[in-house]
Amino acid sequence: MDKFVVRGGNPLLGTIKVSGAKNSALPCMAAAILTEEEVILENIPQVHDIETERRLLTSMGAEVELGYGRAQHRTHIKCAILSDPVAKYEIVKTMRASSLVLGPLIARTGIARVAMPGGCAIGGRPIDLHISGLEAMGATITQDHGYLEARADRLKGAHIVFDKITVTGTEDLLMAATLAEGESLFENCAREPEVTDLAALLVAMGAKIEGAGTATIRVQGVAKLHGARHRINPDRIEAGTFLVAGAITGGDLNVDCCEPKHLGALISKLEQCGVKIDVGADYVRVRSGGELKAADITTEEYPGFPTDMQAQYMALATQAEGTSSVTENIFENRFMHVQELIRMGANITISGRTATIRGKTPLQSAAVMCSDLRASASLVLAALVADGETILDRVYHLDRGYEHFEEKLRGVGAQIRRMGDVFGKK
Ligand code: EPZ
Repeated sequence: MDKFVVRGGNPLLGTIKVSGAKNSALPCMAAAILTEEEVILENIPQVHDIETERRLLTSMGAEVELGYGRAQHRTHIKCAILSDPVAKYEIVKTMRASSLVLGPLIARTGIARVAMPGGCAIGGRPIDLHISGLEAMGATITQDHGYLEARADRLKGAHIVFDKITVTGTEDLLMAATLAEGESLFENCAREPEVTDLAALLVAMGAKIEGAGTATIRVQGVAKLHGARHRINPDRIEAGTFLVAGAITGGDLNVDCCEPKHLGALISKLEQCGVKIDVGADYVRVRSGGELKAADITTEEYPGFPTDMQAQYMALATQAEGTSSVTENIFENRFMHVQELIRMGANITISGRTATIRGKTPLQSAAVMCSDLRASASLVLAALVADGETILDRVYHLDRGYEHFEEKLRGVGAQIRRMGDVFGKK
């Protein structure tokens, strides 16, 4: 298993480029199931979850080309024939977002067999809202030996009010509704930019959608969708991770090719911590503003502070003067990074959904274990300011959602390498 070796102490200086958003690319790739024509997606990030999605679609009979040539990170997907509309467990168990094929498969073929995703490190991750929504649209869904069997002659539009705000639940039902008979009205929808990005692709494919990005989405079903070409949004969580990296190392970092309007909650929080921020059209520059000040966060659905930035912010809070509280409202077990940060010298206590961080504490290098995607990013950020050389094990978690993470950081002065590399090699 790959490890990272990180020597702390270097301020990050220069420009770092943001890749396409994994959490946009995954639903957009699934949307190709809705048509037999070719869908071309650009700005696809070269991360492991995208490869998993390629394998999943190919296993169902889709033709998927995935190229990361110098020109473009691009995928061509053609689901002319879906000979085997089954999302097999050995693929689904490695990526819960596989449940995103459920709605498109039923809408396109009238039948779907999708392995139940099971939980993951950060929580139970149920998909009951996906299931109840599709049943409200006329699907018959049964559970059979760990698989969901779903059938529908043709889905019918429905009025659905989500019990909880769910990102992939909104995306799954939105895709299903595009080919349903009649109108669907969805309320209490997720407003994340990834939902808006997916809706833009679906409209380019001929779908009739109003209100994506708001809590209320209206869809007029159509008989068929056609192919389209679409460019995936920049990854707001990768961008946010780099902003925190610039802040925690006291550097001067230009985070380029991002969408600043998706980063509002994080930017205002970093400014509250005393960090200097300059916002451009497609970049955000972060500079040290002297000593970091403590500030509290509570994770909320978009446009609130994102849960996917909670672990990274906690690493920053260990370097801030004062006491910060971090409350995780979205997932029930998203503090896996806390024990590892404590092993590096952080002063953190947990009570229920709230962690209390007392700073500033100097961090020491240690051998630490990555547990999930964003916890791993948090440990890299801590290692960038720890005294000495930190060894991070199981970095495959990072490879799921960060493209060329160590190369990008090394390009702005971080001393980071995969085990076996020569230190400081550019
Ligand atoms: C998406 O997960 C993202 N993944 C997650 O990013 C992100 O953390 C999450 O949204 C919240 O923003 C993708 O987009 C592929 P939810 P998702 O459904 O859709 C409960 C990362 O780091 N819920 O919005 O699975 C659920 O348990 C990943 O890139 C139900 O109860 O999250 C959670 O408490 C991690 N029933 C809350 O809703 C359901 O049917 C929000 O989950 C669905 C969800």
